[in-house]
Amino acid sequence: MKTYSLYIDGRFVDACTTETLDVLNPATQQVLARVPSGGAEDVARAVAAARRAFDSGPWRDVTAQERGRILFRLADTVRRRAAELAELETLNNGKPIAESEFDMADVATCFEYYGGLATKIHGDVIPVPDNAMSLALREPIGVAGQIIPWNYPLLMAAWKIAPAICAGCTMVLKPAEQTPLTILELASNFEEVGLPPGVVNIVTGLGEPAGAALVVHPDVDAVAFTGSLETGRLIMRAAADGVKKVSLELGGKSPNIFFADSDFEAAVDGALFGVFINQGEVCSAGSRILVERGVYARFVEAITEKARRIRLGPGTDRNVKMGPLVSADQLERVREYQEVGKAEAKLALGGGRARGAGLDAGFFVEPTIFYDVDNSATIAREEIFGPVACVIPFDTESEALRIANDTPYGLAAAVWTRDIFRAMRVVKALRAGIVWVNHMQPTYVEAPWGGVKQSGIGRELGKWGVEEYLHVKQVHINLNDRPIGWY
Ligand code: NAI
Ligand code: MG
Repeated sequence: MKTYSLYIDGRFVDACTTETLDVLNPATQQVLARVPSGGAEDVARAVAAARRAFDSGPWRDVTAQERGRILFRLADTVRRRAAELAELETLNNGKPIAESEFDMADVATCFEYYGGLATKIHGDVIPVPDNAMSLALREPIGVAGQIIPWNYPLLMAAWKIAPAICAGCTMVLKPAEQTPLTILELASNFEEVGLPPGVVNIVTGLGEPAGAALVVHPDVDAVAFTGSLETGRLIMRAAADGVKKVSLELGGKSPNIFFADSDFEAAVDGALFGVFINQGEVCSAGSRILVERGVYARFVEAITEKARRIRLGPGTDRNVKMGPLVSADQLERVREYQEVGKAEAKLALGGGRARGAGLDAGFFVEPTIFYDVDNSATIAREEIFGPVACVIPFDTESEALRIANDTPYGLAAAVWTRDIFRAMRVVKALRAGIVWVNHMQPTYVEAPWGGVKQSGIGRELGKWGVEEYLHVKQVHINLNDRPIGWY
């Protein structure tokens, strides 16, 4: 078992507190590692290092080209260590190893994309009605406080760190208490890739006190958060005192809409992939499966038969297609929703904890499918964040849209049809930040990611992601070399 420390000012350092957190393998409940349970003092130390690196440290003088090269070297490091990092991710998070391998490839690509973007951040020259030059400069916002969840541990870290380095910010990252290991491992390479001390700091710990202290710290200029709606609200309130820029990527209850004309086999696959990938612990999970009445009965039967064959087990087993949930808390949460669902709708599959050889010690739940779900049911309204699907029938396109949009969330949506006219009508009418047509979940670092309504504020990835870490400075250069003559 390995013991980690905090990463502050370019070094691994002991925390101020002696309290620690056990990091578990959710497939076995074995303790994998121990990390400090950082507190307000640790956060303050990390923020001070980030502040110094931003205000007076070498970071200010590092060119955009060099920031880009640092990110390229980070990408190379992740590729070189991909097998080892993927295995650690699976041991800690539970997800199937193939999914961790995809994550590591995405992490590398994310660093690479923002490495390329670093030299392409430029401002504007604005025509103003005077003998003057008006400029809009885009400058790094300063010190970013970044708080991430446990479902894609290293990928969420990359989505936060890469654009912030690209922009020229410094940062303090608090990983989720359940899954801090891969980013701590990667931190051991920060010095060799050329990241100056204080640019990226990592404080492990609980939401309270570590995350909360980061949000309210007066030297943190912007807060970037991915996680639950409930915590997102707390963070937005807490950031209000300092009038900090906040970006939030919160949950969803995303509709995956199937019209009768869509390719049946592709649709069945797409419905299951949309909701069960990553054990359903996905912010954009297609957890409401809306199916046109004409194919509804056959569809429910087909997804049920296919889902019945999903192989559960520890993610390190290459034959496994679904791992355990991340924690005992998450297991309990999902189990409660399974019970609520049994009282609200009809159960086609699952509905309980998964038991059997190799499963009993882990946080495994059965892939669960409820059907004839009313959109007003608790299981259709609240984010479950586990492998629980709600299948809802509809008769017409307008009814499908009404149901799809009848949710407090607006992260993602998907529509399946072979009718291009209908596809485009539905795309335009869906209130969501991300819409897929005839697919669900593919995500590219080049394209924007984020939600509307209560799914969040701001956008990650692509050229949009870097904006969260920039502010615009207006510069007016007077070219009249004589007095105004007003007084
Ligand atoms: P959470 O939103 O509470 O935790 C996410 C991160 O926020 C963690 O790093 C945590 O330490 C931190 N945090 C918690 N409380 C905080 C506070 N008061 N101030 C600052 N930081 C704080 O999520 P949790 O409790 O792990 O999961 C609960 C539910 O949240 C899940 O069942 C799921 O529905 C949803 N969730 C959604 C995610 C998404 O990507 N949309 C990711 C994780 C959870
Ligand atoms: Mg929480």
